[in-house]
Amino acid sequence: MQPKNFLTTEDWNQQQLQQLLQLAAHYKANPASDALRGKTIALVFFNPSLRTRTSFETGIFQMGGHAVVLSPGKDAWPIEIASGAIMDGDAEEHVIEAAKVLSRYCDAIAVRAFPAFKDWQEDRQDKVIRAFAQYASVPVINMETIVHPCQELALMHTIHEHLDNPAGKKFLLTWTYHPKPLNTAVANSALLIASKFGMDITLLCPNKDYLPDSAYLQATRQNNTEYGGTFNITHDIGEAYQDADFVYAKSWGALPYFGNWEKEKPIRDQYRHFIVDQQKMSLTNHARFSHCLPARRNVKVTDAVMDAEYCVAIDEAENRLHVQKALLHSLLNSGE
Ligand code: CP
Repeated sequence: MQPKNFLTTEDWNQQQLQQLLQLAAHYKANPASDALRGKTIALVFFNPSLRTRTSFETGIFQMGGHAVVLSPGKDAWPIEIASGAIMDGDAEEHVIEAAKVLSRYCDAIAVRAFPAFKDWQEDRQDKVIRAFAQYASVPVINMETIVHPCQELALMHTIHEHLDNPAGKKFLLTWTYHPKPLNTAVANSALLIASKFGMDITLLCPNKDYLPDSAYLQATRQNNTEYGGTFNITHDIGEAYQDADFVYAKSWGALPYFGNWEKEKPIRDQYRHFIVDQQKMSLTNHARFSHCLPARRNVKVTDAVMDAEYCVAIDEAENRLHVQKALLHSLLNSGE
């Protein structure tokens, strides 16, 4: 049975995800629909967005529904998450009331809540979206926390469009330099979705400190067992790019330095050469390149790669719209 929520693709099997992608293809060919007529979706943003907000709002509009966008602490009350908290700080209401009240008005709640970037042991529990899911009586959708499952769907839709069957194709996830330590969510998610579809994954990062949380390495290997594919970790740029079919770039902070970022800075500054450039792409099997965006040009990836025919990052961004419409349709009409 399809899960009630879309918190992580770990809760969804390949067949269920494949059905979403098939429905997304339908929505790409037929954008207008009345599948959300009379329905309202709350979009709760604890962090900024360009693509996620626009694609959700636009998709809901195209399906005849209505989106309410809330930014707690800005245009909505700051929300407390901790159970049993003595609320004498900034938060004016608890997630218990927020999730229950939004469930009375709305047919689904989508949440973006990045890590606080202070304590990974705390952040890795994904407490904000878990709390919304616990107290909401309507479906809850993850718009990026410590994973980014909507981005996963868009990535896999794009891979299907450009490589046809992803199984057995070499998928390179490469760490890239960025002046700031970024969320590991998209890296975690890229591993989850590529392995769920049986791809041969290579993870390239500067050293073992830049490995994602072991939970995602284990989940990748578990998916290999269930769905086929392989998982190789390397710090060798040439080996990583060799014969790759799809190159996916992302930067993220080194978990051992979580909350201690000034110590990580001189280390990460040694790895500016992980930038994706044409020389590296020339080692691949005529690979497509993509990135979840936003991407800093000439820091993460050169202009030449971003502007190349083989760059499909804009396709992936467009596909956010189609896969999220399929997701909303599926979550809100699963009783049909
Ligand atoms: N890729 C992505 O989620 O983009 P935004 O942060 O702009 O929403």
